[in-house]
Amino acid sequence: MRLDKLLEHEKIGSRRKVKALIRSKQVTVDGQIIMNESLNVDAALQNIFVGDTKIQQKTHVYYMLNKPQGVVTAVKDAKHQTVIDLIEKNDQRVGLYPVGRLDRDTEGLLLLTDNGQLGYQLLLPHKKVSKRYEVTVNEELTALDCQAFSEGIVFSDGKKCKSATLTILSSKKDESHAYLDITEGKFHQVKKMFLAVGKKVIHLKRVSMGPIQLDSTLSLGEYRPLNQAELQALLPYFTIHKKEKSVEDEI
Ligand code: URA
Repeated sequence: MRLDKLLEHEKIGSRRKVKALIRSKQVTVDGQIIMNESLNVDAALQNIFVGDTKIQQKTHVYYMLNKPQGVVTAVKDAKHQTVIDLIEKNDQRVGLYPVGRLDRDTEGLLLLTDNGQLGYQLLLPHKKVSKRYEVTVNEELTALDCQAFSEGIVFSDGKKCKSATLTILSSKKDESHAYLDITEGKFHQVKKMFLAVGKKVIHLKRVSMGPIQLDSTLSLGEYRPLNQAELQALLPYFTIHKKEKSVEDEI
């Protein structure tokens, strides 16, 4: 939520009074004086003070979902169940959305929030947020594949991927298991990377995104709110740095 809206919502004062408080340097976020009234903030994650008064309100929700196959990563869909449909009525919020996307046949970790800023930060390419996938392919995997992934896979259209780490867990002629760690999010990236080395992905599951690991106690289709440690771990992705703000302003 915008800082000025949050302060108005918390009855700190009228819009005009809130503006005046901000301009007179009485508002701090995590110890820093904030002059930008439109800064996106979250009182659940940050220490927001007006003078000596701490703003306590929890403004946003953050969920971890273990996405099952067959469900689309969208807010609405005419044909298929969406990840938002898996969230109970009481936990729904206006503006709840999935952070990034998983294909319909991909399982695993998906974050959902109504905090637009967080999703934006987690998906910024230069933040290089790492994502780990558990992959099953229909062929043998070898050290040569690890090398190809490390050097940067090139798609058939010439697009080059950043270096990725392939860790082979088991390898047989007709089925292999591996972890793949990537730091970007091109469309169908993992499937296309394996196709580029001649292998077909037959099962795909995301197990981590940045500092967040999929909770192994969540069954497919289950979700839970992020805990305090997970929210703290996400804080670096929540803070807006000056340079990024100017990028955002241009959009
Ligand atoms: N890469 C894919 O190919 N599919 C996904 O769902 C996620 C990453």
